Amino acid sequence: MDQITVFSPASVANVGCGYDTFGFAIDGIGDQITIAKRSDDQLVLERSIGADLPTNPKENVATIAVEAFLNHLGSRAGFTFTIKKSFKPGSGLGSSASSAAGAVFGVNHLLGNPLDTKDLLPFVMEGEAFASKSYHADNVAPALMGGFNVIRSYDPLDIFQVPTPENLHVLIIFPDVEVKTSEAKALLPKTLAIPEARNQWANVAGVISAMYSADFELLKKSVTDFIAEPVRKKLIPGYEEVKRIMCENGSVGFNISGSGPSMFSFFKDANDLEGVKQEVKELYEALGFDLILHTSKINHQGSKIIS
Ligand code: HSE
Repeated sequence: MDQITVFSPASVANVGCGYDTFGFAIDGIGDQITIAKRSDDQLVLERSIGADLPTNPKENVATIAVEAFLNHLGSRAGFTFTIKKSFKPGSGLGSSASSAAGAVFGVNHLLGNPLDTKDLLPFVMEGEAFASKSYHADNVAPALMGGFNVIRSYDPLDIFQVPTPENLHVLIIFPDVEVKTSEAKALLPKTLAIPEARNQWANVAGVISAMYSADFELLKKSVTDFIAEPVRKKLIPGYEEVKRIMCENGSVGFNISGSGPSMFSFFKDANDLEGVKQEVKELYEALGFDLILHTSKINHQGSKIIS
């Protein structure tokens, strides 16, 4: 096989209280990456569709991640990439993670799968680290492996997955402004006082328990975040109004997706979604921002070969 096309999903990181720790994959939006073997040892981004991605292989997250992977293997293989994005970088949905995960996953496949998928993570993280100026795995783990992931440790890297309720629906709300992860990270407090830390880790336990037991009341309370939301919400136009609409209309957990500006809202009943979407549309029309709304279940597959 000399060429394949991979789909690598978008993802929601943090999930409220799990800063750099929780992340899940969503269905329907992500990167479609076509990868072809070359006869030389070059990594070439031939075309990007849906976003203007850097073509310098030292500045593109996909080729940086693939180069790290090939160096680990001691391989001098070369590949040409075409990346088609269904959402923009800077939207809070793990754009760089989708590109890096899909590219490394596809190259691993073209080389005959020398590594298991989960063992590709450190290389995918190299691409993510370049884009966001920090090592975090809460987008790359779901983009690569799907599901709801917990990064239990970064050094050494240790990740486990948590089951999610079958009837959990996710609404993604993306007002069209750009938030750079590196800048959103710089806003965070450097230290945390014990009272906030205690609240935060209690909520982390609450989210995990709620996912196992499908306790939606517990989920709604526990998604609460004391670290990132208080300082990042000001980057997101209409944030408090969206939160109010969600709280009053059946959401079972709402917060910022990753570093924003996208927001996520959990619902246990898909019938609640239509009315809520209409209210949010009217809000952003009045505020004068373009808006993308996307509904999804949790994606348990992660990166996959589509042709
Ligand atoms: N955990 C990261 C952050 C996710 O919140 O900065 C970035 O998408």
